[in-house]
Amino acid sequence: MKVLLFGGAGYIGTHVALAFLERNDTVGIFDNLSSGLRSNIDDRCQFYEGDILNREQVREVLSQGWDAVVHLAAFKAAGESMLKPFKYSENNITGSLILITECIRAEVRNFILSSSAAVYGEPSYLPVDEKHPTNPTNYYGYTKLCIEENLKWYSQLKEFNYVALRYFNAAGYDQDGKMLGLENNPANLIPVVMEVAAGLRPNLLVFGRDYDTPDGTGVRDYVHVTDLAKGHLLAADYLLKNHKNLVVNLGSEAGLSVQQILDTTREITGKEVAAQYVERRPGDPAKLVASSKLAKKELGWEALHSSVESIVTSTWKVYQEQAKQD
Ligand code: UD1
Repeated sequence: MKVLLFGGAGYIGTHVALAFLERNDTVGIFDNLSSGLRSNIDDRCQFYEGDILNREQVREVLSQGWDAVVHLAAFKAAGESMLKPFKYSENNITGSLILITECIRAEVRNFILSSSAAVYGEPSYLPVDEKHPTNPTNYYGYTKLCIEENLKWYSQLKEFNYVALRYFNAAGYDQDGKMLGLENNPANLIPVVMEVAAGLRPNLLVFGRDYDTPDGTGVRDYVHVTDLAKGHLLAADYLLKNHKNLVVNLGSEAGLSVQQILDTTREITGKEVAAQYVERRPGDPAKLVASSKLAKKELGWEALHSSVESIVTSTWKVYQEQAKQD
């Protein structure tokens, strides 16, 4: 299979590329390197530096003939999206429309979207399955929903199919240490905790200790990025075989609290990991846990590497290396 990854030099994209390469697929990567790293692009990939907002660049790369496209080129900070909505509508929505319309023009008929659990908003029941109403509480989540809706329309109007993968909280690193680049200025829990453990940041701010959860801190469904990557392979196979659409959650189905992540990090790293308990972060639901039954049924997908130990250990390995170099 010949697959093109838009945003393939980022954290998730790099793992997706590895997964396709491991089964000898041909992988192209298109990325503007705004947050992706050149050093993470495997030599076996053909790299195209470009921006999804540049229609000519997108058209040019798509003209080279691909079986499937994976779209991971997006800004993803939920908090920032509330402060800078233009940035998110321009890149995430306008950029995606360019990509979708150019895929259709180039007759690339199989499209995999990196979507998000943020499309659901505050859950009205748990675990959240795909039938749960979509009502995003942040603009970032809305951009993903808007792209999903356009994919649905275009698949009705044109010969075109898609799988939208609604990731829960992506975490962890490739177990074989094939990807080492770290995110600059992370806002997500796991990289922040790791920076504290590695001595790159003074302390962790725990956002809220008074939630209606067993220990009062926020509960999320952390899914290992290697498991997520596998989901993309299965989605590509599904599209090529079935020629139909699928919107599906990818989550571990396990709820872990901020406190559990903190305690496990202290245990595994042997570091103190200073923490300060502060106010809740606006827009954060108390608890978000996936049902991944549909992914199992339709794709045969299961989270195999998403235990808290596997997530913390694989991430610590990478941060420890980094701390040594600094
Ligand atoms: C959000 C989005 C998710 C998106 C992800 C990518 C929602 C509901 N979820 O996940 O779809 O893919 O961002 O950025 O919009 N926390 C702390 N201290 C920190 C950082 C986080 O206590 O310094 C806590 C949060 O309050 C939360 C948990 O850790 O309870 C996870 O937060 P985070 O890693 O930022 O991810 P989400 O907000 O769950």
